[in-house]
Amino acid sequence: MLDARPKPSSYFIYVPGRRARAHARRGPRPAAATILRRRPDPQFRDRGRLLLNGSTHHDTRVSDEAIRAELRARAASLGGAPAEVRDILIAAADSVGATATACAMPPRAYLSERFHEFERQTVFNREWLLLCHESEVPTPGSRLAVTVCDEPLLVTRDEAGRIHVLSAVCQHRNYVFAEDTGTSDKVLRCPYHAWTYGLDGCLVGAPLLSRERDLDAMRAQIRLPSLRVEVWQGFVFANFDPDAEPLAPRLAAAEAATAPYRLSDLVVARSVDYPDLPYNWKLLQENALEEYHTSYIHKGFHESMPADLVERAPFEPGEAAVWRRVGVVDDGKAHTRPPWPIPDTIPASAVAYVVFLAIPPMMFASVKATGVKLFRLIPQGPDRTSLRISFLYPRSTLALPDFDRLMDWQLEFVEHIDVPDMTTNTRVQAGLRSRFAARGPYVCQEGTIPQFNRWLLEACLRDARVPAAL
Ligand code: FES
Ligand SMILES: [Fe+2]
Repeated sequence: MLDARPKPSSYFIYVPGRRARAHARRGPRPAAATILRRRPDPQFRDRGRLLLNGSTHHDTRVSDEAIRAELRARAASLGGAPAEVRDILIAAADSVGATATACAMPPRAYLSERFHEFERQTVFNREWLLLCHESEVPTPGSRLAVTVCDEPLLVTRDEAGRIHVLSAVCQHRNYVFAEDTGTSDKVLRCPYHAWTYGLDGCLVGAPLLSRERDLDAMRAQIRLPSLRVEVWQGFVFANFDPDAEPLAPRLAAAEAATAPYRLSDLVVARSVDYPDLPYNWKLLQENALEEYHTSYIHKGFHESMPADLVERAPFEPGEAAVWRRVGVVDDGKAHTRPPWPIPDTIPASAVAYVVFLAIPPMMFASVKATGVKLFRLIPQGPDRTSLRISFLYPRSTLALPDFDRLMDWQLEFVEHIDVPDMTTNTRVQAGLRSRFAARGPYVCQEGTIPQFNRWLLEACLRDARVPAAL
C-alpha cells in the first residue's frame, strides 16, 4: 500500500536546563544536540515528501504488485545470465515495495558465487563506488590505494589539484603499485623496473626504453588506465563504466537533505579498518539502513535517536541514494558521549536530526550536526566484506586542544555500536546458510530495506543482457 500523505513533522531546539548544569558540574559539557525539545518544523511539514509508514515510494499510479511483476519479467528475460542468477532475481522481486507485503531477500542472494559474480559485472562495474574522501588525498602528490573487485586502484591528486582514479597495474609487466610508489610527489614510480607515470597516469620515463624505441611515441601510447571520477560533497566516487550517468543529478534529494550539514567542510580525522568481516556486503547496508534493530541490539546506546522518530525518504528508480532521518532527543546520557562542538554554521533544524544515508553499493554515512561517521564497504566474496569506518569533522573541531582525547572516546563507541552490528551480521550470514533459512515479512520500521532492494534490482536489470560473459 502506498501512502503519499504529508507527514506531520517536528524539530527540536536547544534548551539549557537543570540537566545541562548538572553535566557541567560533573565534567564535559554535553553536546547541544542532546538537550532538545519538540517544536513544529515548517520546512519539512511543507515539503510533505517524507514517509512515516511502511510505504517506500510516492508514485501511486503503479501498484507494488505491478512493480514486482515487471521486475520478474525483466529478470526472466535477462540475456546472458545463468539460470541460477535469473531465479534469484525473480525471487528477489518479492522483496521490493511496501513493508506490509514485501519479504526478505532470498538467502541465495547472499551465498551464491554466481550471483556475487553477477553483482560484480552489473552493479560494481557500472555504479558509482565510494573510494575515499578528498581530505585523504589532501595535497598534490597525495595517493591512496584501494582494491575493488580485484582491481587495484590508486586515487591521486595532481599538481593542478585534480583528483584522478588510476589503475594501479604497471603497464610494463603488470606490477601492482601500492601507496608507496616512489618518494617523489610528482610521479608514480613502479618499484620493479622504475618506470614512472605522472599523477594523471601518463608515462613519464622508462629506463632503456629509448634505446630501441621512440620514447615520445611510447609516451603517447602508454598510460595507466583511468576511471570516471566524481567528487560529491567531498566524497570521491569512481565508475568503471565510461558511459555511466553522472552521479550528482541522481543525488538531488539526498543533497537537499544533507545540505545544512555542510559536508564539504569536513575532513577525515580518524579511520578504523575491518578487513575481513564474514558476511555479504548487502547485510551491512541493510543493517545500517533499518531502524528496527536499534531498539534491541543498541539498547542503552540509541535512545537519543529512537526508532519511532524515523522519517523515511521516498525512493524512485534512477536515484542513487536511500536515506532516512531520525529526530534527536535527550536520553539523559549526554555526559557519556564526547561533547563534539556544533559549528555555528549548522542551523537548529539540522541539529534536531541525524540523516542516515546510503549511496550503495559502497557508501553509508550517518550525518550529524557535529560530523559524519562514514562506512566504505568493499565485497571480498559472497560472504566476505572489508569495512573502513572513518570519522569526519570540521577543521575547527580538529583544532580543539583536547581533540585526541575526544577522538579516543569516540572510537570507544565503535565497540558499543558498530561491533554489535558486526556480530549481528555474522549471525545472520550463518542463518542464511541453514536449510531452515526463511524469507520473513518486513515490518514498518524496515522500509529502507525494500528501497535498497529496489535499487539493487534496478542496478542488476538495467540492461536486457548481462554486459560480460559470466
Ligand atoms: S612492471 Fe613496472 S616497471 Fe616493470
Ligand atoms: Fe546497528
